[in-house]
Amino acid sequence: MTDLITTGWDEYRLLDCGGGRKLEKFGPYVVDRPEEQAMGSRRLPPEKWAAANAAFAGEKDAEDGRWNFRGNVPETWPTHYKGVKFLGRFTPFRHIGYFPEQAPHWDWMMERIGKQAEPKILNLFSYTGVSSLLAAHAGAQITHVDASKKAIGWARENQALAGMENAKIRWICEDARKFTAREGRRGNKYGGIILDPPKFGRGPEKEVWNLFDDLPEMLSLCAAILEEKNSFVILTAYAIRASHYSIYELCREKFPGAVMESGELVIQEENGGRKIATSLYCRLQR
Ligand SMILES: C[S@@+](CC[C@H](N)C(=O)[O-])C[C@H]1O[C@@H](n2cnc3c(N)ncnc32)[C@H](O)[C@@H]1O
Repeated sequence: MTDLITTGWDEYRLLDCGGGRKLEKFGPYVVDRPEEQAMGSRRLPPEKWAAANAAFAGEKDAEDGRWNFRGNVPETWPTHYKGVKFLGRFTPFRHIGYFPEQAPHWDWMMERIGKQAEPKILNLFSYTGVSSLLAAHAGAQITHVDASKKAIGWARENQALAGMENAKIRWICEDARKFTAREGRRGNKYGGIILDPPKFGRGPEKEVWNLFDDLPEMLSLCAAILEEKNSFVILTAYAIRASHYSIYELCREKFPGAVMESGELVIQEENGGRKIATSLYCRLQR
Protein backbone atom coordinates (compact mmCIF):
# COMPACT_ATOMS: atom_id res chain seq x y z
CA MET A 1 0.00 0.00 0.00
CA THR A 2 1.45 3.33 -1.10
CA ASP A 3 -0.59 6.46 -0.45
CA LEU A 4 0.11 9.24 -2.93
CA ILE A 5 0.16 12.57 -1.13
CA THR A 6 -0.42 15.96 -2.77
CA THR A 7 0.98 18.78 -0.63
CA GLY A 8 0.02 21.41 -3.21
CA TRP A 9 1.77 23.74 -5.59
CA ASP A 10 1.76 27.48 -6.24
CA GLU A 11 -1.74 27.17 -7.74
CA TYR A 12 -3.28 24.81 -5.18
CA ARG A 13 -3.24 24.48 -1.37
CA LEU A 14 -5.39 22.82 1.29
CA LEU A 15 -5.59 25.57 3.95
CA ASP A 16 -7.82 24.00 6.61
CA CYS A 17 -10.54 21.38 7.13
CA GLY A 18 -13.09 20.35 9.71
CA GLY A 19 -16.79 20.26 10.50
CA GLY A 20 -17.48 18.37 7.26
CA ARG A 21 -15.90 20.97 5.00
CA LYS A 22 -12.49 21.91 3.51
CA LEU A 23 -10.94 25.31 2.75
CA GLU A 24 -8.66 25.35 -0.30
CA LYS A 25 -6.77 27.93 -2.34
CA PHE A 26 -7.19 27.55 -6.10
CA GLY A 27 -5.05 30.17 -7.85
CA PRO A 28 -6.23 33.52 -6.41
CA TYR A 29 -9.47 32.15 -4.91
CA VAL A 30 -10.17 30.72 -1.47
CA VAL A 31 -12.87 28.03 -1.78
CA ASP A 32 -15.02 26.50 0.97
CA ARG A 33 -16.74 23.24 -0.01
CA PRO A 34 -18.19 20.07 1.58
CA GLU A 35 -15.84 17.26 2.63
CA GLU A 36 -17.58 14.71 4.83
CA GLN A 37 -14.28 13.04 5.71
CA ALA A 38 -13.11 16.21 7.46
CA MET A 39 -14.70 15.29 10.78
CA GLY A 40 -12.21 17.08 13.02
CA SER A 41 -12.09 20.71 14.18
CA ARG A 42 -11.09 23.65 12.06
CA ARG A 43 -7.83 25.38 12.95
CA LEU A 44 -8.26 28.68 11.18
CA PRO A 45 -10.50 31.33 12.81
CA PRO A 46 -14.14 31.55 11.54
CA GLU A 47 -13.45 34.87 9.81
CA LYS A 48 -10.95 33.13 7.52
CA TRP A 49 -13.70 30.73 6.38
CA ALA A 50 -16.26 33.52 6.14
CA ALA A 51 -13.88 35.44 3.86
CA ALA A 52 -13.81 32.63 1.26
CA ASN A 53 -14.36 33.89 -2.30
CA ALA A 54 -16.63 30.94 -3.07
CA ALA A 55 -18.61 28.59 -0.81
CA PHE A 56 -20.60 25.61 -2.06
CA ALA A 57 -24.02 25.56 -0.42
CA GLY A 58 -25.69 22.20 -0.16
CA GLU A 59 -24.60 18.70 0.63
CA LYS A 60 -21.87 16.85 -1.28
CA ASP A 61 -22.98 16.24 -4.89
CA ALA A 62 -26.40 17.70 -4.07
CA GLU A 63 -28.44 18.27 -7.24
CA ASP A 64 -29.68 21.55 -5.76
CA GLY A 65 -26.23 22.64 -4.59
CA ARG A 66 -24.97 26.05 -5.70
CA TRP A 67 -21.94 28.32 -5.27
CA ASN A 68 -22.18 31.53 -3.22
CA PHE A 69 -19.57 34.03 -4.34
CA ARG A 70 -18.00 36.91 -2.38
CA GLY A 71 -16.87 39.78 -4.58
CA ASN A 72 -16.29 39.55 -8.30
CA VAL A 73 -15.44 35.86 -8.89
CA PRO A 74 -15.47 34.58 -12.51
CA GLU A 75 -16.93 31.17 -13.43
CA THR A 76 -13.52 30.16 -14.86
CA TRP A 77 -9.92 31.29 -14.25
CA PRO A 78 -6.58 30.31 -15.82
CA THR A 79 -4.37 28.06 -13.74
CA HIS A 80 -1.56 25.64 -14.50
CA TYR A 81 0.43 22.57 -13.48
CA LYS A 82 4.15 22.62 -14.27
CA GLY A 83 3.57 25.28 -16.92
CA VAL A 84 0.70 23.58 -18.72
CA LYS A 85 -2.27 25.95 -18.56
CA PHE A 86 -5.89 24.92 -18.07
CA LEU A 87 -9.04 26.40 -16.56
CA GLY A 88 -10.29 26.20 -13.02
CA ARG A 89 -14.07 26.23 -13.18
CA PHE A 90 -16.86 26.42 -10.61
CA THR A 91 -19.04 23.55 -11.76
CA PRO A 92 -22.23 22.04 -10.28
CA PHE A 93 -21.70 19.20 -7.73
CA ARG A 94 -18.90 21.35 -6.06
CA HIS A 95 -16.22 20.33 -8.56
CA ILE A 96 -13.53 22.78 -9.71
CA GLY A 97 -12.92 21.49 -13.26
CA TYR A 98 -9.91 19.35 -12.25
CA PHE A 99 -8.78 17.13 -9.35
CA PRO A 100 -5.56 18.43 -7.67
CA GLU A 101 -5.03 15.08 -5.92
CA GLN A 102 -4.22 13.63 -9.34
CA ALA A 103 -0.89 15.50 -9.38
CA PRO A 104 1.20 12.43 -8.34
CA HIS A 105 -0.38 10.51 -11.24
CA TRP A 106 0.42 13.34 -13.65
CA ASP A 107 4.10 13.26 -12.59
CA TRP A 108 4.31 9.45 -12.76
CA MET A 109 2.64 9.40 -16.17
CA MET A 110 4.87 12.16 -17.64
CA GLU A 111 7.98 10.37 -16.39
CA ARG A 112 6.96 7.16 -18.15
CA ILE A 113 5.94 8.92 -21.34
CA GLY A 114 9.34 10.62 -21.37
CA LYS A 115 10.95 7.16 -21.57
CA GLN A 116 8.97 6.16 -24.68
CA ALA A 117 9.14 7.52 -28.24
CA GLU A 118 5.87 9.43 -28.75
CA PRO A 119 3.74 6.71 -27.17
CA LYS A 120 0.00 6.39 -27.86
CA ILE A 121 -1.91 7.09 -24.63
CA LEU A 122 -5.62 6.38 -24.09
CA ASN A 123 -7.41 8.55 -21.50
CA LEU A 124 -10.82 7.10 -20.62
CA PHE A 125 -13.56 8.91 -18.61
CA SER A 126 -11.24 11.85 -19.20
CA TYR A 127 -13.43 14.82 -18.15
CA THR A 128 -11.71 18.21 -18.73
CA GLY A 129 -8.53 16.63 -20.09
CA VAL A 130 -5.82 17.91 -17.76
CA SER A 131 -4.17 14.47 -17.89
CA SER A 132 -4.49 14.52 -21.70
CA LEU A 133 -2.74 17.90 -21.99
CA LEU A 134 0.05 16.94 -19.60
CA ALA A 135 0.57 13.64 -21.45
CA ALA A 136 0.71 15.49 -24.80
CA HIS A 137 3.11 18.00 -23.25
CA ALA A 138 5.36 15.08 -22.25
CA GLY A 139 5.45 13.92 -25.89
CA ALA A 140 2.56 11.47 -26.28
CA GLN A 141 -0.19 11.09 -28.87
CA ILE A 142 -3.49 11.17 -26.96
CA THR A 143 -6.87 9.58 -27.48
CA HIS A 144 -9.27 11.35 -25.11
CA VAL A 145 -12.60 9.56 -24.59
CA ASP A 146 -15.51 10.94 -22.59
CA ALA A 147 -19.27 10.49 -22.85
CA SER A 148 -20.08 14.15 -22.25
CA LYS A 149 -20.03 16.65 -25.12
CA LYS A 150 -19.85 19.39 -22.45
CA ALA A 151 -16.75 17.87 -20.82
CA ILE A 152 -15.09 17.48 -24.23
CA GLY A 153 -15.91 21.16 -24.94
CA TRP A 154 -14.24 22.16 -21.66
CA ALA A 155 -11.23 19.98 -22.50
CA ARG A 156 -10.86 21.72 -25.87
CA GLU A 157 -11.04 25.11 -24.15
CA ASN A 158 -8.15 23.90 -21.99
CA GLN A 159 -6.23 22.86 -25.11
CA ALA A 160 -6.67 26.35 -26.58
CA LEU A 161 -5.64 28.07 -23.32
CA ALA A 162 -2.54 25.86 -23.14
CA GLY A 163 -1.66 26.89 -26.70
CA MET A 164 -1.54 23.22 -27.64
CA GLU A 165 -3.68 23.40 -30.76
CA ASN A 166 -1.05 21.38 -32.66
CA ALA A 167 -0.76 18.64 -30.05
CA LYS A 168 -1.70 15.17 -31.28
CA ILE A 169 -4.97 14.76 -29.41
CA ARG A 170 -8.07 12.88 -30.68
CA TRP A 171 -11.22 14.06 -28.90
CA ILE A 172 -13.81 11.27 -28.85
CA CYS A 173 -17.31 11.53 -27.42
CA GLU A 174 -18.30 7.90 -26.89
CA ASP A 175 -19.01 5.24 -24.30
CA ALA A 176 -15.62 4.16 -22.92
CA ARG A 177 -16.37 0.45 -23.10
CA LYS A 178 -17.68 0.59 -26.68
CA PHE A 179 -14.61 2.53 -27.81
CA THR A 180 -12.15 0.22 -26.04
CA ALA A 181 -13.85 -2.94 -27.36
CA ARG A 182 -13.66 -1.59 -30.93
CA GLU A 183 -9.95 -0.75 -30.51
CA GLY A 184 -9.45 -4.36 -29.46
CA ARG A 185 -11.22 -5.69 -32.53
CA ARG A 186 -9.06 -3.42 -34.70
CA GLY A 187 -5.89 -4.71 -33.03
CA ASN A 188 -4.85 -1.20 -31.92
CA LYS A 189 -2.36 -0.99 -29.02
CA TYR A 190 -1.50 1.74 -26.48
CA GLY A 191 1.64 2.47 -24.48
CA GLY A 192 -0.45 3.79 -21.59
CA ILE A 193 -4.08 3.81 -20.40
CA ILE A 194 -5.54 6.25 -17.84
CA LEU A 195 -9.02 5.56 -16.49
CA ASP A 196 -10.96 7.43 -13.84
CA PRO A 197 -14.44 5.99 -14.08
CA PRO A 198 -17.29 7.44 -12.02
CA LYS A 199 -19.16 5.14 -9.65
CA PHE A 200 -22.16 5.49 -11.96
CA GLY A 201 -22.34 7.07 -15.41
CA ARG A 202 -24.03 7.07 -18.79
CA GLY A 203 -22.63 6.93 -22.31
CA PRO A 204 -23.80 9.33 -25.05
CA GLU A 205 -26.44 6.78 -26.11
CA LYS A 206 -27.51 6.19 -22.53
CA GLU A 207 -25.17 3.19 -22.11
CA VAL A 208 -25.20 2.52 -18.36
CA TRP A 209 -21.86 2.41 -16.50
CA ASN A 210 -21.84 0.88 -13.01
CA LEU A 211 -18.32 0.58 -11.63
CA PHE A 212 -18.79 -2.52 -9.48
CA ASP A 213 -20.53 -4.41 -12.31
CA ASP A 214 -18.56 -3.14 -15.29
CA LEU A 215 -14.96 -2.51 -14.17
CA PRO A 216 -13.87 -6.18 -14.55
CA GLU A 217 -14.90 -6.27 -18.22
CA MET A 218 -13.49 -2.76 -18.77
CA LEU A 219 -10.06 -3.87 -17.49
CA SER A 220 -10.13 -6.99 -19.68
CA LEU A 221 -10.76 -4.75 -22.69
CA CYS A 222 -7.88 -2.50 -21.58
CA ALA A 223 -5.53 -5.48 -21.10
CA ALA A 224 -6.22 -6.54 -24.69
CA ILE A 225 -5.04 -3.18 -26.09
CA LEU A 226 -2.08 -2.49 -23.78
CA GLU A 227 1.39 -2.86 -25.29
CA GLU A 228 3.22 -5.97 -23.96
CA LYS A 229 6.30 -3.96 -22.95
CA ASN A 230 7.10 -0.49 -21.52
CA SER A 231 3.45 0.28 -20.94
CA PHE A 232 1.40 1.48 -17.98
CA VAL A 233 -2.10 1.78 -16.56
CA ILE A 234 -3.40 4.34 -14.05
CA LEU A 235 -6.81 3.54 -12.49
CA THR A 236 -8.51 5.90 -10.05
CA ALA A 237 -11.86 5.29 -8.37
CA TYR A 238 -13.84 7.91 -6.48
CA ALA A 239 -16.73 7.67 -4.09
CA ILE A 240 -16.93 3.87 -3.91
CA ARG A 241 -17.38 1.80 -0.74
CA ALA A 242 -14.34 -0.41 -1.35
CA SER A 243 -10.72 -0.84 -0.33
CA HIS A 244 -7.83 -0.22 -2.74
CA TYR A 245 -7.14 -3.95 -2.37
CA SER A 246 -10.26 -4.71 -4.42
CA ILE A 247 -8.97 -2.82 -7.46
CA TYR A 248 -5.43 -4.09 -6.79
CA GLU A 249 -6.51 -7.73 -6.87
CA LEU A 250 -8.68 -7.11 -9.93
CA CYS A 251 -5.74 -5.51 -11.76
CA ARG A 252 -3.45 -8.39 -10.69
CA GLU A 253 -5.93 -10.80 -12.33
CA LYS A 254 -6.32 -8.75 -15.53
CA PHE A 255 -2.63 -7.76 -15.95
CA PRO A 256 -0.70 -10.83 -14.72
CA GLY A 257 3.02 -10.22 -14.20
CA ALA A 258 2.73 -6.42 -14.17
CA VAL A 259 4.52 -4.43 -11.44
CA MET A 260 1.81 -2.63 -9.51
CA GLU A 261 1.03 -0.47 -6.50
CA SER A 262 -2.20 0.75 -4.96
CA GLY A 263 -3.49 2.87 -2.14
CA GLU A 264 -5.26 6.19 -1.72
CA LEU A 265 -4.85 9.61 -3.31
CA VAL A 266 -4.44 11.98 -0.38
CA ILE A 267 -4.38 15.76 -0.02
CA GLN A 268 -2.29 17.23 2.84
CA GLU A 269 -2.78 20.61 4.50
CA GLU A 270 0.01 23.10 3.90
CA ASN A 271 2.89 23.05 6.42
CA GLY A 272 2.72 19.27 6.73
CA GLY A 273 -0.71 19.34 8.34
CA ARG A 274 -3.59 16.89 8.32
CA LYS A 275 -4.45 14.57 5.44
CA ILE A 276 -7.73 13.95 3.58
CA ALA A 277 -8.12 10.86 1.40
CA THR A 278 -10.00 11.52 -1.85
CA SER A 279 -10.04 8.29 -3.84
CA LEU A 280 -8.50 4.86 -4.42
CA TYR A 281 -5.94 4.08 -7.08
CA CYS A 282 -4.00 1.23 -8.61
CA ARG A 283 -1.25 1.80 -11.16
CA LEU A 284 0.87 -0.72 -12.95
CA GLN A 285 3.57 -1.07 -15.52
CA ARG A 286 4.78 -3.81 -17.83
C1 LIG B 1 -15.00 11.71 -12.40
S1 LIG B 1 -14.99 12.21 -14.02
C2 LIG B 1 -13.43 11.83 -14.39
C3 LIG B 1 -12.42 12.81 -13.80
C4 LIG B 1 -11.14 12.97 -14.62
N1 LIG B 1 -10.46 11.73 -14.83
C5 LIG B 1 -10.18 13.94 -14.03
O1 LIG B 1 -9.36 13.55 -13.19
O2 LIG B 1 -10.28 15.09 -14.37
C6 LIG B 1 -15.93 11.01 -14.81
C7 LIG B 1 -16.10 11.30 -16.28
O3 LIG B 1 -16.63 10.11 -16.86
C8 LIG B 1 -17.49 10.46 -17.91
N2 LIG B 1 -18.33 9.29 -18.18
C9 LIG B 1 -19.36 8.82 -17.43
N3 LIG B 1 -19.86 7.69 -17.99
C10 LIG B 1 -19.11 7.43 -19.10
C11 LIG B 1 -19.10 6.41 -20.10
N4 LIG B 1 -19.99 5.41 -20.06
N5 LIG B 1 -18.18 6.45 -21.08
C12 LIG B 1 -17.27 7.47 -21.13
N6 LIG B 1 -17.22 8.50 -20.22
C13 LIG B 1 -18.13 8.46 -19.22
C14 LIG B 1 -18.22 11.69 -17.40
O4 LIG B 1 -18.71 12.46 -18.50
C15 LIG B 1 -17.09 12.43 -16.60
O5 LIG B 1 -16.45 13.39 -17.44
